[in-house]
Amino acid sequence: MAHMITIYISFLIIILIYSIFLLRPLFDNFEDSTLHKEFRSSNRTLSFDHIYVIHLDHRTDRLEKLNELSSYLGLDLDYFTAVSRYNERFLRKFGTGNMNPSQKACYLSHHLIYRQIIDKGYKSALILEDDVDFELNITAIMADIHHELPLFWDVLYVGHCNERKGELVGNSSYAHKLYKSMRPACMHAYAVSYFGVRKLVEMLDPVVPITAIDNSLPDLISNKKVTSYSVHPQAIAQWKAADNPSDIPTSWSTHHSLLNSTLHFLGYKGDNGIGK
Ligand SMILES: *[C@@H]1O[C@H](CO)[C@@H](O)[C@H](O)[C@H]1NC(C)=O
Ligand SMILES: *[C@@H]1O[C@H](CO)[C@@H](O)[C@H](O)[C@H]1NC(C)=O
Ligand SMILES: *[C@@H]1O[C@H](CO)[C@@H](O)[C@H](O)[C@H]1NC(C)=O
Ligand SMILES: *[C@@H]1O[C@H](CO)[C@@H](O)[C@H](O)[C@H]1NC(C)=O
Repeated sequence: MAHMITIYISFLIIILIYSIFLLRPLFDNFEDSTLHKEFRSSNRTLSFDHIYVIHLDHRTDRLEKLNELSSYLGLDLDYFTAVSRYNERFLRKFGTGNMNPSQKACYLSHHLIYRQIIDKGYKSALILEDDVDFELNITAIMADIHHELPLFWDVLYVGHCNERKGELVGNSSYAHKLYKSMRPACMHAYAVSYFGVRKLVEMLDPVVPITAIDNSLPDLISNKKVTSYSVHPQAIAQWKAADNPSDIPTSWSTHHSLLNSTLHFLGYKGDNGIGK
């Protein structure tokens, strides 16, 4: 009888060792993927899963500034080559709405990024244009904004052009606060969530576009088809300088300068100053 029990127990032990051995890779994978996810949305990506920069290959001057900015601020930027307005063959595949070739190229660039965000499964991503400037303490600002951000959001405007403030959200004691979006203009710095981007690929279908994306997206927001929040004052702005002229009147653009510009801090002179 005792003999039988010993055999039985040995048998159980062997099974146990085997199953630990066989199942181990499963647990390893599990740990890996959770670690990976936490690693993804770090301060290096401003607490989003990823940061894209829509970049025109020939603007190497802008690339230089961005490299300086990202190494100073400790950011990981993923450069995404913009669709060129001269790429007629590609542009022809999609509807035109009432857009000119550059508006259409812009629409497609944003749309291609949405598709990539879905493919990669990012929970959130920040999309930047390549002429941006950041608040010097952007990492702290975004850490705070992420605290205030409600669980369900589709779009978050970190930068915008003179948007009227909506209702205050949260109770941040810092200078940059979160508001419900009204009708944010400009697309130089906005983020999308995974749920938001799934809505956008459907509602902003480039096969049947209605109008330029910097109009269609604000339309969706003001019609409450997507849930959007905005940071006021904006924490990422378009860089305005002699070498990067804008068609916005100066009084208007200075009104939108940052509290503490990183490019100024790095020695660049804005607004008609002598550029570095
Ligand atoms: C991320 O940045 C915030 C604000 O600067 C800081 O408080 C926090 O410790 C940083 N987190 C990590 C993991 O470095
Ligand atoms: C960031 O810096 C500005 C001054 O440039 C300050 O007013 C603001 O409160 C700071 N924000 C955070 C989150 O530290
Ligand atoms: C801010 O609001 C949240 C939730 O409404 C609350 O839990 C928190 O204590 C508030 N913080 C401050 C500093 O008032
Ligand atoms: C901007 O940041 C620098 C470096 O942290 C600091 O010395 C300076 O006082 C800040 N300026 C303002 C206006 O907050």
